[in-house]
Amino acid sequence: MVVTAGIPRKPGMTRDELLAVNSRIVGDVVTRAIAASPEAILICVTNPLDVMTDLAWKRSGLPSSRVMGMGGVLDSARFAYFIAEATGAAIGEVEALVVGAHGDAMVPLPRLSTVAGRPLTELLPAEEVDEVVRRTVFGGAEVVSLLKTGSAFYAPGVSVAAMVEAILADASVVLPSCVRLDGQYGVTGIHMTVPAVLGRAGVLAVPELPLEPAELAAVQASAAQVAEQIAALESAGA
Ligand code: LAC
Repeated sequence: MVVTAGIPRKPGMTRDELLAVNSRIVGDVVTRAIAASPEAILICVTNPLDVMTDLAWKRSGLPSSRVMGMGGVLDSARFAYFIAEATGAAIGEVEALVVGAHGDAMVPLPRLSTVAGRPLTELLPAEEVDEVVRRTVFGGAEVVSLLKTGSAFYAPGVSVAAMVEAILADASVVLPSCVRLDGQYGVTGIHMTVPAVLGRAGVLAVPELPLEPAELAAVQASAAQVAEQIAALESAGA
């Protein structure tokens, strides 16, 4: 079950400004869809992604292994594109990874992103790495400002299709997915993007990447932001 229902961003809006409207839509859609398909594996695409995935999990009553969100595959694809552009490498040589919240607090990981096996941090000077990271973080907003009447759909569509294919094919592939963390990276009970193994049963495993202290701090700051939004939604009675 892929949930894309909700309103998209307009130019100048952040994903978070969609919270109130989309929580009503996602809550309603998930409640009704689960009644018809109680054994579903659910992938949420609606923004703000991490909070909507958490809400979908709560409303569905499904085990956390059967609920995930799509944001990381898209953000990582954008990061890969900007890395290819900045280095002149073929996109097929680039492996890129973005974790954390699907929003301004996302965490592109240059040290763990490679071009033909070499870390980005060894290929570009620090300020160029920073620029590639910045374009990645604001890549979604860039598309919104160009489209003017909505947000990106081609790359998000392809990204969620990759997750669905991994599940249907029982591929056991690692894709950056918004999953409920249970102690990994020092985060518990928050939905956020990290590399996760996907297969027929949904999220098969969430193996923890060894992160450096600054990377871990960024991931935890991202988690804190998601936690704040979830608390805001809950205190609004949703
Ligand atoms: C984006 C929206 C769909 O990143 O979240 O383009």
